[in-house]
Amino acid sequence: PTPLWLDCDPGHDDAMAIILAGKLQPQRQTTRYIDSRNAAIVLKAAGMEGIRVVPGQTKPITRSPLPCPDIHGETGLDGPMGLPLFDPTLVLSDEKAVLYLGRLLQTRKDKGEPPLTLIATGPLTNYALLLTLYPELHNQIKQIIFMGGSIGPGNWTPCAEFNILVDPEAVSIVLHSGIDVTMVPLEVTHQAIITDAIIQRLQTQLKGSKFSAVLVDLLLFFKKTYQDVFDFQHGPPLHDPCTVALLCAPELFTCKRMGVHVITADGPCLGQTICDIYAKTDSPKINVATDIKVDGFMDMLLDAFDQANQH
Ligand code: BDR
Ligand code: CA
Repeated sequence: PTPLWLDCDPGHDDAMAIILAGKLQPQRQTTRYIDSRNAAIVLKAAGMEGIRVVPGQTKPITRSPLPCPDIHGETGLDGPMGLPLFDPTLVLSDEKAVLYLGRLLQTRKDKGEPPLTLIATGPLTNYALLLTLYPELHNQIKQIIFMGGSIGPGNWTPCAEFNILVDPEAVSIVLHSGIDVTMVPLEVTHQAIITDAIIQRLQTQLKGSKFSAVLVDLLLFFKKTYQDVFDFQHGPPLHDPCTVALLCAPELFTCKRMGVHVITADGPCLGQTICDIYAKTDSPKINVATDIKVDGFMDMLLDAFDQANQH
């Protein structure tokens, strides 16, 4: 499997990305943007205690943190009663993720190991700092795949998607890094809807286990907040696991190469990703996912849930 690092801010859909990554890519590590508790809790719930969490930055590079309890609740993982207790032994807390990852890349380079794929399902703060601190290690990064941005309207403001809005300066650093970058925007993730039929299928496939109850409770909480905040009537969009699916099954996605510019100036367009579909500017060129085969994606996700269920 592709060596993978997952940077996340769990989060209901981040939790699903962790499970998908852990089951498809068995030896991976996960980092956490704000604190590490939720990542560790998800790993425990999914029987993935072999994976460690490294705490990430506690705030964006220049801006203040932007919590979103409206979507994920006060804990970030509101909903289920059956989540395991936080197990601190899953968290490697003596070193910050950026430094840990820099050291890991250097060690891999020294040993002649292949470059690492970096996925982000939250703001890009950690990766932007990594790229800034260790320019000599850029060739140890195979690619960066992140969930965020949009070709058209945003979700947190009319122009901006949440992950970009939190740390637009970080996004600018990543876009200009020259690394192979893929953006998975709202146009794709808003197709990955967890309908009631999928929840039903999950319950049947996992035979009503304790783990399936946790998953269902997470999804139902997410469904309710998406109904309340965004008026999504058919179910919540599972944004974050789309990144992992794109890595594991690129045939499920359509991508186009185009220039992308991020707005970092304060004002109504802060955090907007301007996608240059017709190549009219010299914005840095990245891959932008534009479409997803939803049935294939759901099959993959349910398989991963099934595997985690058997631990
Ligand atoms: C993004 O914001 C978070 O709420 C989700 O986890 C996802 O990463 C969607 O805009
Ligand atoms: Ca997220």
